Amino acid sequence: MRITILTGAGISAESGLATFRASDGLWENHSIMDVATPEGFTKDPALVHAFYNMRRKAALEAQPNAAHLSLLRLATHHDLTLVTQNVDDLHERAGSRDVIHMHGALNRACCAACGHNWPAPMVMHPKDSCPACGKPSPRPDIVWFGEMPLHMERIWDVLENSDLFVAIGTSGNVYPAAGFAQHAGRNGAKCLELNLEASVNADDFDQQILGPASMTVPGWVDDICHA
Ligand code: OAD
Repeated sequence: MRITILTGAGISAESGLATFRASDGLWENHSIMDVATPEGFTKDPALVHAFYNMRRKAALEAQPNAAHLSLLRLATHHDLTLVTQNVDDLHERAGSRDVIHMHGALNRACCAACGHNWPAPMVMHPKDSCPACGKPSPRPDIVWFGEMPLHMERIWDVLENSDLFVAIGTSGNVYPAAGFAQHAGRNGAKCLELNLEASVNADDFDQQILGPASMTVPGWVDDICHA
């Protein structure tokens, strides 16, 4: 079966990484405008680097959980494409390959001047310079609000050619990812949501399985691998 999975912050929550929209989530304590827009970076690069340095450290200290690990087993039984909105690397550290990071990656840096892309140091600083062009323009390789998510052509293509679309641990608040279920469904896929609580776009799914990802994802993978 051709399965496309979209993961969000909820799959990494039990690894100890904060989600965005929970009452103690990242967007409760930080302003999106200040830390997740190009304008915020221009205004106060030190503040933006501090935010992503903190998240890079948290991601490095976190370990993949049973939900990340179970997706490996799924890939051995089905034709799986794994798309994530997450900027941590817990899918890769669980062993998944070819993960599509549509919102970028904490462990990469890029140059706002020349576009060069390289492994991010643990701590980025406004005085850093680009190793390719030398300009003082390095930034985290993260898609900010107002910027275009990455790899969209490939993602629309797999959504149009999926038998099953599964969203795991995402609230359905941010487009274009929030539109994937509707797009896959219109192109013939069944749509399943695995989440702690129903997303805001729950109506776009044929079925919901609610509960913590470390329980629901391995359980669902067992079922679909032995069906
Ligand atoms: P949110 O914080 O909006 O939503 C997290 C989802 O995970 C919610 O639906 C929770 O119910 C669910 N959840 C929490 N704990 C869970 C658990 N243990 N098991 C399963 N589900 C759980 O995060 P995202 O939807 O990923 O973008 O946010 C999407 C985008 O908004 C992010 O990629 C980020 C943010 O702004 C950018 O920064 C560009």
